[in-house]
Amino acid sequence: MYFGVDYHPEHWVYPYAGTEENPEARWERDAELMAGAGFNVVRMGEFSWGLCEREEGNYDFAWLRRAMDIMAKKEIKVVLGTPTAAPPLWLSKKHPEILPLDERGLPLHEGTRHAYCVNSDVYWDYSKKIVRAMAGALGDHSQLIAWQIDNGIGGHATEFSFNEEARRDWHAWLRAKYETIERLNDCMGTRFWGQTVTDWSQVPMPMVAPTVHNPALVLDWMRFSSDTAVAYVKCQADLLHELTPNIPVTTNLRALTRHFDHFDMASALDFVSVDSNATIKSKSAENACEIDMLRSLKKDGIRTPDGDCGFWVIEQKAGHVNWQEVNSLVRPGVVRLFTYQLLSRGASGVLYFFWRQPRIGSEKFYGGVLTHDGRGDNRVYREISQIGDEIKLLAPVLKDTCVCAETCILFTHDNAWTLKLPMQPNRNFNYREHLQLFHSALHDRNIAVDFARATEELSRYKIVFAPSLHMIAGGEADLLKLYVQNGGTLVSTFNTGLVDEHHIAPDSGFPANLTDLFGLEVTEFDPLPPGEENHLTFKGTFPTSHLHPAKVWCDLIEPKECEVLATYSKDFYAGRPAMTMNNYGLGRAIYIGTMSHQYFYYDLIAWLRQLCNLYPLLKVPDTVEVSMRQKDGTKIYFLLNHQHSPVRLQFYKPMHDFLTGHDVAGNYDLPPHGVLVLDEHPKKRETEETETIPVPAAAPEGEMAKVPV
Ligand code: GLA
Repeated sequence: MYFGVDYHPEHWVYPYAGTEENPEARWERDAELMAGAGFNVVRMGEFSWGLCEREEGNYDFAWLRRAMDIMAKKEIKVVLGTPTAAPPLWLSKKHPEILPLDERGLPLHEGTRHAYCVNSDVYWDYSKKIVRAMAGALGDHSQLIAWQIDNGIGGHATEFSFNEEARRDWHAWLRAKYETIERLNDCMGTRFWGQTVTDWSQVPMPMVAPTVHNPALVLDWMRFSSDTAVAYVKCQADLLHELTPNIPVTTNLRALTRHFDHFDMASALDFVSVDSNATIKSKSAENACEIDMLRSLKKDGIRTPDGDCGFWVIEQKAGHVNWQEVNSLVRPGVVRLFTYQLLSRGASGVLYFFWRQPRIGSEKFYGGVLTHDGRGDNRVYREISQIGDEIKLLAPVLKDTCVCAETCILFTHDNAWTLKLPMQPNRNFNYREHLQLFHSALHDRNIAVDFARATEELSRYKIVFAPSLHMIAGGEADLLKLYVQNGGTLVSTFNTGLVDEHHIAPDSGFPANLTDLFGLEVTEFDPLPPGEENHLTFKGTFPTSHLHPAKVWCDLIEPKECEVLATYSKDFYAGRPAMTMNNYGLGRAIYIGTMSHQYFYYDLIAWLRQLCNLYPLLKVPDTVEVSMRQKDGTKIYFLLNHQHSPVRLQFYKPMHDFLTGHDVAGNYDLPPHGVLVLDEHPKKRETEETETIPVPAAAPEGEMAKVPV
């Protein structure tokens, strides 16, 4: 397994480190300390264009090669970032047209990173030149194991640029999509407000205007900008594959923040890498949701540097950040806890951001593995070194294991973008919150979950959750029907099927193309203001632990074939269905016409577990997070205590803890921020003579130890 750090050797030369005679003297010490922490990989180079090409065509990669040579002495491998995230100043001076224009047409000036328009031909040309030069100079280095393309694509809201070149590409993109102006007018509904165009060149970019733009146009603009970002990454990927075919490519992604289609982006990469803010987020369920989403971006065709499955975390915060109001220290044990959360949910490589707090630049008060002094006796270095020791034990065990989920949450960027458009039925509706209610219920009950697009193979999942599919294409609706027809259980909600892929509302009832699947029709919907609630009254077998409110949105449902599971208890629609279930083919389609509080979703999961024979990984107190990685015959459980106090677990049968090499049995107090990595079959491993992992003598064979609530 690769375990390492993001390193900027260029920060650690004379006069900031080293000596006048030997400006790079510090690098050897860095490599020693890295090896001491158990690191076997560094990422570097991602912002180095201005140093690798100080003047046009005058390349200097020798310093990077020297840094890589030093890494070689300590057997540390290298991921090289192509340096295009930070164009050099000479380039923007010579070609100011590469600068992005904002939605008012004003340039975002040079002098920092990401100051480029992804539609600029000039920028593409220069990018290709520097990537080709870098691959030529360093592509044969023994330590190189992967390329990271650019860095934080779309960061600082640079996904959209309103340059003339963007306008040219936008029109070409529209022409390729719609083929005729008539079709564009029809699909975009340009009759509204007289937006009809008679020539491609008339189609506006959605720049600042007196009021809102046509939503269908804005969505296409998002799709176009996404395709552009993916094409730019693919252009670099193709070049790198041509020049260094054995070296896989990746780029660092973030969940739910950047405006491009991450599934599309993942398909341009050999493996997915992610930036994780885990250590500064207080809610483990939110982190888990983001990790699950990023893990799910690439399910097949993964090519990591060591052939393992999963994804890499290429920037895991080593400590505090510098961009919050107050950047408090990350408490002892928290970096370790969240590193294990990432591993538990499928990471097969982890690198910390970053090696040492720089003495220069805007990130000098950002937490690193080392503090400014670089001595290596600081708290975070010690904590991460402990993780490094543990990773050495775990790596052989985790090799080729992955997370296998039996449930998934449907997610498409088209839908997420649609839900962010203005003029929605309820401005207080928040898609992330709605997703999170489902994800938290699964997470808190320790049921593994993937994210997927409707166009993926869904038959592998027992349950598919589809919260708020506001936009759903006819083809997607057919695929959902097929899934249920063949025995799947689909759980959908209000705010589904309100528009098709062209942002056109149906005239055949809501949810569009799905009324037969759910055996109902939504005839009206009643968005509720904050603080206003209806209530749910349940019928039949649905278990209720609390009174459940109906908030944010109430669908008025006309039931047809469906069974009614719950009704509203007040207002003019009191007694009308709020939640239903319909048998369809071999499966069932459940519809929840409103949003509730978290306890409702816990009850929902409890009910679905029985209905669909779905078992939690282990039964543990609510505050303990459990995830599992598996491969044939092996199941590795991770138990994480996110609390500041110990949690008592009870093991009826001993299990083997990889981190200590001991058995855990009977009552066991998992300390605050404590972690257990447990194996289900200790005896079996013993017979396989695994040398690196101590095996408990008395561990029983067979059935998994149960930990009751
Ligand atoms: C991103 C970038 C890093 C760094 C961090 C700061 O992850 O890739 O270079 O600036 O943000 O949070």
